This record gives sequence, structure tokens and C-alpha cells, in this order.
Amino acid sequence: MKIVVIGGTGLIGSKLVNNLRERGHDVLAAAPSTGINSITREGLAAAMDGTDVVVDVANAPSWEDQAVLDFFETSSRNLLAAEAAAGVRHHVALSIVGSERLPDSGYFRAKVAQENLIKASGIPYTILRATQFFEFVDGIVQSFAVGEEFRVSPALIQPVASDDVVAALANVVLAAPVNGTVEVAGPEAIPLDELARRFLRVTQNNRKVEPDVNARYFGAALDDQSLTAGKNARLGAIRFEDWLARSTTQTGR
Ligand SMILES: NC(=O)c1ccc[n+]([C@@H]2O[C@H](COP(=O)([O-])OP(=O)(O)OC[C@H]3O[C@@H](n4cnc5c(N)ncnc54)[C@H](OP(=O)(O)O)[C@@H]3O)[C@@H](O)[C@H]2O)c1
Repeated sequence: MKIVVIGGTGLIGSKLVNNLRERGHDVLAAAPSTGINSITREGLAAAMDGTDVVVDVANAPSWEDQAVLDFFETSSRNLLAAEAAAGVRHHVALSIVGSERLPDSGYFRAKVAQENLIKASGIPYTILRATQFFEFVDGIVQSFAVGEEFRVSPALIQPVASDDVVAALANVVLAAPVNGTVEVAGPEAIPLDELARRFLRVTQNNRKVEPDVNARYFGAALDDQSLTAGKNARLGAIRFEDWLARSTTQTGR
């Protein structure tokens, strides 16, 4: 099968490209640095030629409210038009669990806009919604810094290893389109303030974590349903503790 991975040089994209190539597929890693740009349309029509499946795992360079909305809308419109012209049979996109539940965040509004364009396009599709990647936990914790301490929401979060996301994504890519949404999440839901303590302990940061029910997640108020998956989600096997121990050993942190 010929598969184009938009964002094929990123965290998820590069792992997905390797996974699909190991299974014998003809995979094009598409990104501005490889001459394929979903915003300017550079290289897009040629990339789509003979393509069976397009996987969109691109990410916006700026997360400012209007910039991120413009990115996901323009990129999705350009991709879907190029796919329609080339007769692509399956559009797969990676989105985020709970996006519609967090409308106060510009990033989540942009992901909902991306999903809506896909659903209206007429191209057979599957949207895989993942929870927050373990690799993103550092950034999440830092976003709660207030002075010398962290004031963190105690709402539940169910983060997932990027390797588990890639495994679920590869299965979706190689299956028939479901014209719907599938979820993937980590094996355990943990209060965010507890996740922050575990992360800081292992990374030897002794700044204090205070639970704060009013602390916002990238602008959005949270409850226990905001960042956790539904009951039919596919669950990854990798536990946060094991991933953290392995990655801190590797980076020598
Ligand atoms: N972070 C999370 O916890 C989380 C959770 C669920 C879902 N997601 C979703 O997962 C997706 C992938 O995230 P990631 O962390 O793997 O992203 P990433 O590492 O930041 O990679 C982004 C990729 O997008 C490419 N890109 C940027 N602008 C582009 C353009 N104009 N045309 C084509 N490609 C472009 C980049 O190419 P260059 O390297 O050339 O710039 C790079 O390959 C995102 O859509 C995100 O919303 C994230």
C-alpha cells in the first residue's frame, strides 16, 4: 500500500513511518523539511499520486488561538482537496480525547474544526483520538508553574505512551475506514497533581505541588471526564512509571 504520513518527521510521524515501512508498505514521510507542505501546498499533488491512505499527524508551529485554528483549517482543507483530486481511499487523522469538552482552549477548538472538516469531506475516514502523550507531561507540569511552586488541577488524566499511540494508529491505517472516531488512552487514570508529583520526584525536582481545583489546563477548566477516555477506548500497555524510569535512564536525567 502507498501511505503518505503528513507530519512524518514529528514525534508520532517518524515512529509511524518506521512501523509501516517495517511491515513492507511504501511510506512517504511528508513535512516542510522533505518538500511537502500542507499549508503552501508545495509538493502535495505529486505526493498524493497513487496514494491509498493519507495519515495526518502534523502539528501547528504556533499554539496561539487564531494561528492554531488557521493552521488546522488550512492544512485540512488543502489535504482533503488534494486527496479528493487523487482518489485517496482513506484519510486518517490523529486528534485528542475530549476536544469538544474543552472549548475554552484555542488548541482544542482547532482540533474540533479539523475533525469537522474531515467529517464533511466525503472522503472515507477514521479519526483516532488519543489522550496526552507521556512525552508531553513535562510541558503540562511546567504550564502549572506559579512562582516557585506548581498549582495543579486534581482532575483525572489518562496519559499514554507515544509508542502505544503509534501501534493503535498503525492498526487503524491498515484497517478499513470506520467513518467515525476511535479512542486510545493509557492504562491508568491518575489525578493530574499526583502525576505532577510522580514526574517531579523521578526528575529530581523538589518544587512543591499544590492541588488547585481552579487551575486551568491551557485555558480550560477541568473535571474528571475532561482528559479521560470513554469505556470503548483501546488501552495502551505501557505504564507511566515504567516509561519514566526508562526515559530518565536513557537521557541520564
Ligand atoms: N501532544 C499530545 O499529547 C497529543 C495528544 C493527542 C493528539 N495529539 C496530536 O498528535 C499530532 C502529532 O503530534 P506530535 O507531537 O507528533 O507533533 P510534532 O512532533 O510537533 O510534529 C509535527 C509534524 O508536523 C509537521 N508539520 C508542521 N507544519 C507542517 C506543514 N505545513 N505541512 C506538513 N507538515 C507540517 C512537522 O514537520 P517539520 O519537522 O518539518 O516542521 C512535523 O513533522 C498533532 O496533530 C496533535 O494534535 C497530540
